[in-house]
Amino acid sequence: MMSDERSQAAELTSDLTGRLVDAVSEDAAVSRRAVLGGLGLAGAGAIGMSGSSAASQGGDDHEEGHDDGMNPHGAFGAVGEYAADSFDPHSFLRTFNTGHPDGDDDRVNSRVYERDGQRVREFTLTASLQEIEIAPGVTFPAWTYNGQVPGPTLRVTEGDVIRVKFTNGQEHPHTIHPHVKNVDPAMDGIPQNGPGVIDLNESTVYEWKAQPAGCHFYHCHSLPLKEHIHRGLYGALIVDPDPERVRENPRDYVNYQGPISDEYRETLVEEAKLRNHEYRADEVDEMVMIMNGFDTNFDGDNEVYAVNTQAFCYGVGSTDAENGEWEAGETVKPIKVKRDRPVRIYLINTIEFDLVNSLHTHSQFFDYYDHGTTLMPTHKTVDTIMQCQAQRGIVELDYSDHDPGLYMFHAHQSEFAELGWMSFFEVEA
Ligand code: CU
Ligand code: CU
Repeated sequence: MMSDERSQAAELTSDLTGRLVDAVSEDAAVSRRAVLGGLGLAGAGAIGMSGSSAASQGGDDHEEGHDDGMNPHGAFGAVGEYAADSFDPHSFLRTFNTGHPDGDDDRVNSRVYERDGQRVREFTLTASLQEIEIAPGVTFPAWTYNGQVPGPTLRVTEGDVIRVKFTNGQEHPHTIHPHVKNVDPAMDGIPQNGPGVIDLNESTVYEWKAQPAGCHFYHCHSLPLKEHIHRGLYGALIVDPDPERVRENPRDYVNYQGPISDEYRETLVEEAKLRNHEYRADEVDEMVMIMNGFDTNFDGDNEVYAVNTQAFCYGVGSTDAENGEWEAGETVKPIKVKRDRPVRIYLINTIEFDLVNSLHTHSQFFDYYDHGTTLMPTHKTVDTIMQCQAQRGIVELDYSDHDPGLYMFHAHQSEFAELGWMSFFEVEA
């Protein structure tokens, strides 16, 4: 079914993508200010779409777009799609690795076992160099954990031991530094302590206690830090609350000084179960969104912005206007959510070079849990939150009283939105 709403959203996504790809490809030295400065959205129609090109070398085919005066409002083909074998941000969104080898990704999940009365979740991470696609046809020489940016999402329960076997398969020395409460300095993953930096073809094992419950992350801590993070060495580390610990220590999970009644205690326990993947997390549609950006010309300023690496990947796919029929993009498509199923976003900002990033939802307000360490929201009924680098939190929203359709969300640094960090939920009845 052709819908105006969809085709207009697709036009917007395609126009912005075309402008971004063309600008980044045309001149490796272009700054993002030039991208935004010279071209209003109306002007994007004159740029044309580049099918493929590389950030570092300039595309062969971008001239074509200029020469034939291609009108992106008239003819969309597969323009704006990502390569089929590229990292899939739609699958990444809902992939949670818990250490069980039967999990989604057996390159990261090793095993889960008991040791001295504690559960150990063991993961394998390997640093490698990987050309990644950050806009359709635009590649970036990334430094990765397990060949992907963001690195694999690790998910554990409070109190577990997180055991990570790390090998560096890349020429630069790397580490893994966890944002958890870690009581052993040797395990901090910094150059100065413990195993220090891990050189090419060397390995180490990190062990971290999973605490506190929350939405956390891990990243490389080698110097220069901004390069090691910006190149792609980061991933989500989600620590689910242990409902039994919540029952014993309810005050650790609320920003509340008054007496805690039995009823309130049980409310918190139930909230913890809704957060814990081994209890009732399925009742919520959970997803990981890592806000990131890429400095394609290495001038210390990002040219491309995204959630989960690929610019506009949660935009609306191109339309086939020739047939008058809407076709969902294969790789660029909105995030489908069921109207009656609440959404929980584990949101993390890893962006380098910009001081702040943000998430703004259209037409709906949400509850926000800064760092995800509390079971009651730290921000109630907001439609915009900001995060500095390394800040993260849990967003809970629902569209249960909304009409089905497309609802936009994006960074409210509006230039980030225009340069890739713009997305849609497609709410279905
Ligand atoms: Cu590194
Ligand atoms: Cu950090």
